[in-house]
Amino acid sequence: MKSTMIHFSRTDIDKMDKIFRLNLINSCTGFKSANLLGTKSLNGVSNVAVFSSITHLGSNPPLIGFILRPTTVPRDTYRNIKDTGVFTVNHINSDIIEDAHHTSAKYPDEVSEFTKTDLQEEFLGDFSAPFVKDAKIRLGCTFLNEYEIKENDTLLLVSQVDHLYVADQEILQTDGWLKLQNADTVTINGLDGYAKTALIDRYPYARPKKE
Ligand SMILES: Cc1cc2nc3c(=O)[nH]c(=O)nc-3n(C[C@H](O)[C@H](O)[C@H](O)COP(=O)(O)O)c2cc1C
Repeated sequence: MKSTMIHFSRTDIDKMDKIFRLNLINSCTGFKSANLLGTKSLNGVSNVAVFSSITHLGSNPPLIGFILRPTTVPRDTYRNIKDTGVFTVNHINSDIIEDAHHTSAKYPDEVSEFTKTDLQEEFLGDFSAPFVKDAKIRLGCTFLNEYEIKENDTLLLVSQVDHLYVADQEILQTDGWLKLQNADTVTINGLDGYAKTALIDRYPYARPKKE
């Protein structure tokens, strides 16, 4: 049966205009997490950058992963993580979207994005990487390992969660579930679209239907 849906084959994708393909392929896998990664260089310069690839890897031990684009150009976040072993993950909320997006601009490594935006850094406990004060959910992480993705020269960085900060009990529910909507956490659509979310419902653990 012929579908009335718009269809792109791999041949079409390969022939596409670069920007059209970038937008299409970046949005076709669905909504992505919206986070700011905070790091500090060995020289003491803070860095903050937007990342949409942070994902859950496992809860026991608590592991996260994210994808780093090819390191053919200097990447401050990557270098700082490799040098210091630590970084923070800070949820982007609707009040800070513009500044959060701006952190993807290429500043020289001696320039902290905290000085080029209204985002404020905050140090918590003895953790040496900067947290983003404006974020209602924040993680302090330690780098564990990196895996080369040979197909496109990217890296998967695996890290453990050592600290987790949640702004209030409106967000943290009694069973441990974080109601992200109450933290005003946004989600990323493609490479440059930010969206608010509204919870529909939570559902019980799914079991096979009985005959
Ligand atoms: C919405 C958005 C999502 C991004 N996600 C990633 C990502 O997951 N991985 C990555 O390597 N770069 C990502 N970037 C690009 C980085 O933010 C950008 O390269 C930034 O300059 C890195 O900063 P750094 O050089 O200080 O590390 C993203 C950019 C935007 C605008």
